[in-house]
Order: sequence, then C-alpha cells, then structure tokens
Amino acid sequence: MFQFTLNGRSVTVGTDKNLMEYLREDARLTSVKNGCDEGICGSCSVIVNGKAVRACTLTVAKVNGKPVTTAEGLSRRERDIYGWAFSEIGAVQCGFCMPGMVMSAKALLDANPNPTAAEVRSAIRYNLCRCTGYAKVEQAIERAARALRNGDTHEVEFDGAGVGERAVREEAKEKLLGAGEFVDDMQVPGMLYGAVLRARYPRALVNKIDCAAARAFPGVEAVLVAKDVPGERLLGHVVYDWPVMIAEGEETRYVGDALALVAATTKESAGKAIGLIRVEYAEREPVLSPQAALADGAPRLHPNGNVLATTVLKRGDVERAIAEATHVMTQHYSTPRQEHAFLEPESALAVPGADGSLTVYTAGQSVYDDHREIVRMLGIAGEKVRVISKFVGGGFGGKEDMSVQHHAALLASKCGRPVKLTLSRAESLCVHPKRHPMEIECTTACDENGKLTAARIRIVADTGAYASLGGPVLQNLTRLTTWISRGARFTRTTFRRERCAALA
Ligand code: FES
Ligand code: FES
Repeated sequence: MFQFTLNGRSVTVGTDKNLMEYLREDARLTSVKNGCDEGICGSCSVIVNGKAVRACTLTVAKVNGKPVTTAEGLSRRERDIYGWAFSEIGAVQCGFCMPGMVMSAKALLDANPNPTAAEVRSAIRYNLCRCTGYAKVEQAIERAARALRNGDTHEVEFDGAGVGERAVREEAKEKLLGAGEFVDDMQVPGMLYGAVLRARYPRALVNKIDCAAARAFPGVEAVLVAKDVPGERLLGHVVYDWPVMIAEGEETRYVGDALALVAATTKESAGKAIGLIRVEYAEREPVLSPQAALADGAPRLHPNGNVLATTVLKRGDVERAIAEATHVMTQHYSTPRQEHAFLEPESALAVPGADGSLTVYTAGQSVYDDHREIVRMLGIAGEKVRVISKFVGGGFGGKEDMSVQHHAALLASKCGRPVKLTLSRAESLCVHPKRHPMEIECTTACDENGKLTAARIRIVADTGAYASLGGPVLQNLTRLTTWISRGARFTRTTFRRERCAALA
C-alpha cells in the first residue's frame, strides 16, 4: 500500500506500478504525456518534492509519502500566467511536449523566481520539443517569471486576427495545460487494447502463424491474421501495395510488417498474447540498398518489380551544352534516411456503433485517405465509416500513411467493441516510413563568364519497403531540381524503390 499527495489530495495505491502509467491510466491525469516511456523525451515531467522528474522512470513506491504535482494541479493564477506567456509568444505548436515543459518551468520558478537565461535553458534540458524549438519556450518562461514576480495578471485573449495580423493559437492554452485531448488520452467504456505482432526479419518467407496459445490467453478477445481481412488486403495512399497483414506463404518486406493483431481487455494481456504467437519463418537475404534492388538477379520484392517510378524531365540539349561549356563540374551528394521524430507515437481508437458504423479517432495526417482505405479494407459502405482527427502530436510527413488506424478499425469491427492501439516508441520507429535517402549526381556547366549553361541531375531515391508517398515526393523533387537549375537545360531524375528493412 502506497500513499502520497497528488495535486494536493492524498491518494492510496494498492500495488506498485510505473508512475506515468498510474497517473495516465488510473488517475486519468493525461497532461502527463507518454512520448517514449524510456526517460528520454521529458513529455511525462511532473514535480515530486519540488523537483521536475520524468514520471516514466519512477514507480509509485518511489513517490511514497511525497507530494506529486502534474499540470492539472497548477493554481488558477499559474494557469493564466503560463497560458498567457506561452500562447502570446507562439511557443505552442503541436503541444504534445508542452505540459512537461511547463512543469519543468514551474519547478525552476518555484525555487528561483528570477532565473538567468542559462538557468532557464538548463531547467528544460531534459524536455524535447520537435516543433517549436527552444528559443520561444525560453522566452515564454522568462515572461512568465516576470509576470509571477511582479504580481501581474494576464489571460490569453483569442480575438481572431485578420490577414497579415498576429494571431494567438486558439487551442494553445488547453494543449499547454494538458486539457487538450490526444488519441492516447482517450478512454471509452468497454474499450479493449490492441497489439500487433511484427516481422522478426526484414525479409523472410512466413510458413506458418500459430495463434492457438494467444487465443486461449486470459483477457484476449480476438486474434486476427491476414485471412480475417474482409475486404481488400493491400492498402496505400497512392499505390495499393502495403498489406494490412502478411499472410502465410508470403514474404515480409521490412521489420514493421504486421503478421497478427490481438485485442485484449488490458494492455498487458494484449502484449503477453502477442508473445505467445508462434511463427515459422524461412529467413531470406534482405535487399538493403537501391543498388542491390537494381542489380541483375535481385529478388523481385513486389509483383511489378523493385522500381516504383522513373521520371525524366528534360529541357534543351544538355549533352551538347555540357560539351560546349568552358567549365564543367560534377559532384556527388548523399542524403541519409531521416526519422521524422514526432513526439507523439501513433495512436488510433476505433469505436463501433450499434448500426454497424465505425468511428475512428486518429492522429494521422490525412483523414480522407484513412477513410478511403478503412472502407476498402472492411469492404463496407463509405457512409458507415467516420474518421475524426484529434490533436496531432507532430507528424512532419511521418504520419501520412496508415500505421495503426486500419488495425484498430479491423479489431473493433471484429470484436464489436472499441479498440485503442498505440505504438511504443520503438515500434513507431520500426513501422513508419522515413524521409527518403537519395544519391544525387549533379553536373553543372558554365561559360567563360561563369554564367550557368547546363545542369544534369541524376537522382536515385529510396522509398523503403512500400510506395507510401514516394511518387508525389518524386514529382516535387523534379520540380525542385528544375527550379534549382533555372539556367540549365536539362534535369533527369530517376526514383527507385528499395524494398528492404526500414531499420536495417
Ligand atoms: S521521458 Fe517519460 S515518456 Fe519520455
Ligand atoms: S510543440 Fe513541442 S513537440 Fe510539438
């Protein structure tokens, strides 16, 4: 039995557990955000005994007898001052990191009402923000400190704004203080928790998936495999090439591939049941680069081959212009695969209605694509599915594709009960496509006065295991290269698809 003071009220907890889990799931204090569950991001920051700490690194036993404060426990005045300072200065964008930032700021200002800029910087050194950056956050904390010292009163005013006028983000205060609801903050009656079995190998033949032990596990309501998809199994915003789940007899293409889904009454049961699913694989050599994907004899990873698209954009006679130029220079550039690093891991909640309808709450970047693909997968009428976007804790292109929305929808429609599916940080990194690595060969020519006369640009880009938005990225890329080489005559871009492990 553990007892401590939570936001000024005494609470008793029967068994020890992770503090963040207790605060979010049991106490329903959802200002405490789960960005990583590993003590890295600071989104779960709370104040214990006057110090800002990361709740995910503590247990209830560790705070026994101590005062714990979350953003919900701020006084009215603090809410007004922090709300005003952060909103007015434009520090709140997606807002996912912000309650944690405010708790770190409060811990500082409670102990040191007049901090130096260096002290402010130091106070938030464990709080990551992917959208705003840190300069505005630091300015907001300095403003709040001044207002709190001077006894000023301030409230955020949303009075709209015209074109060209400065506007305050309307939902800034609710995001900042934790009242703004992200998908994983939602709980609805009868809700089940989803979990996904991912591929063990980036490339392997799946011979058999045995779910018997998982189905028998206490609390498990459903275990689904590829043959349980009632409609079309291949999805994709632009090209239908991404299986909802890999079936027996098929090959995996990256470690984010789904093989089976579980819905259970608790997160713990869902996770344990996933661990009971037995898969027989025949491991195969992965294809780890565009060069390997294009090589003679490379394994054909999709029925139509390994090249997603080739685009050629040409103006004038570039070879002649290069041959006649006074100076010619060729350079090679490589850009790496890039993680988008949004702070909110992917989450979806699907809620079936009594009339056979389905409402899906998502943090994705395209409710219309989500809707189209869920309808396609379930094989039901479009008007039966509603997709609602909650606050999105950052995306940057990394939440364009289906990641959890379709799996939550499928589980909910099979179980007839709401299902929430939230990825861990590690799973999120494995599952969503990355910004495309590119190999760029750029030849530039000019005359004796340095005037550019030609540019020839060849690009091989890697969209990963599935098409995702590789096509539109290619189109933007060719437009960009044309723009860069305004004086040039020619650009040529090839866009290849490597189908391999996202995290090889
Ligand atoms: S530091 Fe606790 S969730 Fe990231
Ligand atoms: S506003 Fe900080 S992560 Fe989005």
